[in-house]
Amino acid sequence: MRLIGLASSVFVLVLTFVMSGFGQAPSQQQPRDTGGDRAQQDDRRGKNQDGQAIFRYDTFGDEQLWTAVLRMHEPIATVDPVTALSVGLKVDVDALPAATVAALRAGQVDLTNPAVTTELLRLNAVVGVKGAVDQTGQLTSIGVTCALCHSTVDNSLTRGIGKRLDGWANLDLNVGAIVALSPALPDALKAEFRTWGPGKYDPRHHAFDGTNLISLNSPSLPIVIPSIYGLKGVGFETFTADGPISYWNAYVGVGQMGGHGNFIDPRIGLSITQTPDLVTSKLPALLEYQLTLRAPGPPRGSFDEEAAKRGKDLFRKEAGCSTCHQGSAYTDVLSGPSKAVPFLHDPAEVGMDPAYAARTATGKYRTTPLRGLWQHAPYFHDGSAPDLLAVVNHYDRLFALHLSDRQKADLIEFLKTL
Ligand code: HEC
Ligand code: HEC
Repeated sequence: MRLIGLASSVFVLVLTFVMSGFGQAPSQQQPRDTGGDRAQQDDRRGKNQDGQAIFRYDTFGDEQLWTAVLRMHEPIATVDPVTALSVGLKVDVDALPAATVAALRAGQVDLTNPAVTTELLRLNAVVGVKGAVDQTGQLTSIGVTCALCHSTVDNSLTRGIGKRLDGWANLDLNVGAIVALSPALPDALKAEFRTWGPGKYDPRHHAFDGTNLISLNSPSLPIVIPSIYGLKGVGFETFTADGPISYWNAYVGVGQMGGHGNFIDPRIGLSITQTPDLVTSKLPALLEYQLTLRAPGPPRGSFDEEAAKRGKDLFRKEAGCSTCHQGSAYTDVLSGPSKAVPFLHDPAEVGMDPAYAARTATGKYRTTPLRGLWQHAPYFHDGSAPDLLAVVNHYDRLFALHLSDRQKADLIEFLKTL
């Protein structure tokens, strides 16, 4: 029998996955009878659920990059869970059978055994990574989903294992280190990817056209993986406001994840077409799901209310933050003469490195909508501000605000409430 030779803890996993009826799609809650305008609500929920399933589990056929070209299934089959967790990969506790959760709690799962990683993939429990495992327990393919970079877990079982938090950037994820495991890449490229570090990715370095990796810009300028909650009503997404959410989803889904589909933008000289297109028709549902992701409120007791009130005043008046961070979304991106054209800032205007923007369709930076700030340090597109004090100091210098230490502290308390 095929389990012979594996550690007994793997046996527990394999056994429990068999008992749990693996092979079915991850369970999606069905809309319940809620009365009222039920049909409409069901329709809306149905779309959100599709969107959620796409966000979490759809690879758009990007196995053509991760398996056929990068051959990631080969190194991943040799990586144990401790190593996988150390490069920031997360495990969805809800995808694990109860007996496996119990075994993990009791410390009975050997997390230094690579076969356990393969089992976790077979259970569809590795957030943002989809693996196919054959009858003999061999990992035969790997693909990735949006959740890889834009979901994390609440660590409720242990560090790296818990319930999914969709929309929260995975700032532990070391994409560069993971991709550098590929046996198919030249050493110089691997070395470059390894310099990115956790929580960063460079979406302007290369693109995949379905067959080849095309070089876009060099050397790479990795940027922070942003949280994508609280984007309802913002208007233009990405640090440089190249387009609305679906524009960017197509850019990443096709050119970066390597999905089988179309993306065309003459502004940046990129034209990728592949038939069938497994991306475009999914964009509306995916958009709808992203817009349901709310920014997490600040934890109780995480800020000083009196100081935050004073900070809010400073933000609006003396510090002048709200000239750009305006309205309920705290951005001026829609404040131009036409809602179809983003209102942007020259890099020098906000004291930012122009290099990344120069590689985009707009060449400028969008005022970042402020939300969930307590949750997602570092700040600015390049992560150049490790904490909120560094943000405030940046503006204090740039605009010669001469804020006192106490004013800076008050401003920070306000930022922690957003
Ligand atoms: C390999 C990591 C990675 C994957 C996978 C990924 N993204 Fe992103 N995403 C990024 C990075 C980095 C940015 C920042 C780009 C920018 O703003 O210029 C970003 C930006 C975004 C934004 C704009 C956020 C903002 O601040 O306005 C949205 C929305 C988004 N991604 C959604 C998605 C969706 C949906 C998918 C799946 C189709 C996806 N991403 C896949 C890394 C990733
Ligand atoms: C002239 C317009 C302008 C003013 C004034 C301004 N900002 Fe910004 N802000 C921006 C832009 C543009 C960015 C994006 C810069 C980047 O990512 O490189 C940004 C980014 C930020 C971020 C990072 C958010 C994140 O999620 O990474 C914070 C925090 C912030 N600003 C706070 C402030 C505070 C506090 C003030 C007042 C002291 C202020 N801003 C004044 C335009 C402005």
